[in-house]
Amino acid sequence: MTPAPPLNVAGRVRAPGDKSISHRALILAAMAVGPSRIRRILPSADVHATAAALRALGVAVPALSDDFVVQGRGVSALHTPESVLDCANSGTTTRLLAGLVAGLDGVSARFEGDASLSRRPMRRVAEPLRRMGARIEFEGAAGHEGLPMRVTGARLASVDLVNSHASAQVKGAVLLAGLAAGVSVTVEEPHVSRDHSERMLQARGVALRVSTRDNGAQVVTLDAAQQVQALDVDVPADPSSVTFFAALAALADAGELWFDNVCLNPTRIGAFDVLRRMGAALILHDMTEQGGEPVGSVCVRPSTLQGTHIGGAEIPRCIDELPMLACLATRARGETIIADAAELRVKESDRIRAVVENLQRLGATAEERPDGMRIVGTDTALRGQVETHGDHRLAMAFGILGALPGNSIIIDDPGCVSVSYPTFWRDLAQVTSAAAGEAAVRTPPAGTDGQRTTSGGARRLVIAIDGPAASGKSSTAQWVAQQLDVRHVDSGAFYRAATWLALQSGVEPEHWTPELVLAGTPRITWRLTERSVLPLIDGQEQDLALRDTPVTRQVSRVASMAPVRAWVNSQVREAGAAVDVVVDGRDIGTAVFPDAALKVFLIADTWERARRRLIQRLGRRPNDAEIAEETEALVARDAQDATQSAPARDAVTIDTTSVTQVEQVERIVALARATRERLGQS
Ligand code: S3P
Repeated sequence: MTPAPPLNVAGRVRAPGDKSISHRALILAAMAVGPSRIRRILPSADVHATAAALRALGVAVPALSDDFVVQGRGVSALHTPESVLDCANSGTTTRLLAGLVAGLDGVSARFEGDASLSRRPMRRVAEPLRRMGARIEFEGAAGHEGLPMRVTGARLASVDLVNSHASAQVKGAVLLAGLAAGVSVTVEEPHVSRDHSERMLQARGVALRVSTRDNGAQVVTLDAAQQVQALDVDVPADPSSVTFFAALAALADAGELWFDNVCLNPTRIGAFDVLRRMGAALILHDMTEQGGEPVGSVCVRPSTLQGTHIGGAEIPRCIDELPMLACLATRARGETIIADAAELRVKESDRIRAVVENLQRLGATAEERPDGMRIVGTDTALRGQVETHGDHRLAMAFGILGALPGNSIIIDDPGCVSVSYPTFWRDLAQVTSAAAGEAAVRTPPAGTDGQRTTSGGARRLVIAIDGPAASGKSSTAQWVAQQLDVRHVDSGAFYRAATWLALQSGVEPEHWTPELVLAGTPRITWRLTERSVLPLIDGQEQDLALRDTPVTRQVSRVASMAPVRAWVNSQVREAGAAVDVVVDGRDIGTAVFPDAALKVFLIADTWERARRRLIQRLGRRPNDAEIAEETEALVARDAQDATQSAPARDAVTIDTTSVTQVEQVERIVALARATRERLGQS
């Protein structure tokens, strides 16, 4: 067997905004009176869930973008939502907003979530909120203390809570309840948990007292009758997301990775300390303060790693990073023990069992313990399939492990990274290709439906097919993809899914705004099928509904909205970073995949395009008068599209006026095969 090529990494990773800060930035902006500008929020599924829930409670939260303003009207403007609060996969959304609603006298909301969230324990927030006087009812099966859950706010009494385990979500919920109801609260925890709620409240004019007892217990006290002030915030990069790439850089053979503007809050960077203790060359630079949070740059270079012991007060400081640290431990010398981390069992999955089972399946030595795990480092190649249980951190941790030389790991549900790091696969491809000219992404073997493989080695292939209206982009792309045995991405299907959801809103299409259309998009995810990248709505295939006439009638309205185009483009890019694809659509070779391996621009005489379109539409040969009329429509459309549909400078233009579709497909397939050879793919 030839040895795997070494892994070089290079570049600056712009990791997305911090998840914990993003949730709190929205909630505190909603509670304040006045405008709060939020920059660089994390636009992930979890944060979308918080934004949607706040909208349902009466807050005007615009569509999430890189820079927007929430006009807060204070807690008294919040009201009982007409619909349920769908918290999707997000524990933070559920627990923090349960606290907020509990403090709103007379407001009542039903919280629901996906299967994973519905399994997670909610008694931890219900119990203190009930003690304060709120009504919390679990509405699922008898004895199930999780979602669905109804929270009814009341005039709360103050509380002095001694929590048996450190939880930032419980602490945050009690603080928000106290603040909304105007009563004092005290929360004591055995160790310090992440302290964004405290920092962000203090930055917004709320007085808090924080003290540490001799035994390390942390006590936070909020005084009665305080107001949150509006404040602008620039969300720093999420250290949990950075940890995945920091681990990759530490385990690489050469190069270095830089991360800028990272949140370096000491309650969040336990994983950086662990990495250093294991021998990683991880250096913090340019530390400064921003909105009450320490931020700075991080640089990580490869080094030899040693196993370690992770436990005690360190656990809350690296709880979300433990799956990555466990995967990394397979490539460290000796054994690594993770202890005091039973909390991992009630995260998005049972992360102790899921990590250990997956490591064992790949051929690593790992052992489950009630409160953690033991992992033994090895040099053997780790290969096989990983079951993520829809858990984003598992998908990413094993994605990184799979990108290491010699390893080859199939991830069953790559799309679940959208919960916290929607651009993860693209960033992974970028940092590994920038140095080596190679991407760590490879087409899954045929038949591995809906999966993604990372491995040190092969490059990915993106074929971009562009051209004016009715140039035959879509049918050609589908055919080419089939010939090459790669996936076809039909960007139109994403527009149709967004249109279908906009129709469900009940708002007349003439009144649709980009915000309204984008509000539905967090419900859209995608899955790889054997032949295509398939958009899903609420996790379900909607093929027939998407082809409905009302959708067809309104889709061009939606596709003309620039923010919606940006959203579709990001979905398509994500798919293209995950697997080999043929993509067709407007500006695909210019704006969406400027670095596509092969770009094709199809042109054809307008008369010919009109004729083809009519054959498709009418199912018969059109007469000359009909073609003339359609030609006129196409000329107008071309003028309208002129800015969008210019060929990329490096595109191969194919005039299809007098070639058959078979010839045209053959030509593109030949070009694609040559490109594959150039990239070193078989
Ligand atoms: C979070 C707190 C942590 C963490 C979660 C986000 C938060 O959970 O695991 O991903 O933003 O408050 P705990 O409630 O267990 O601290």
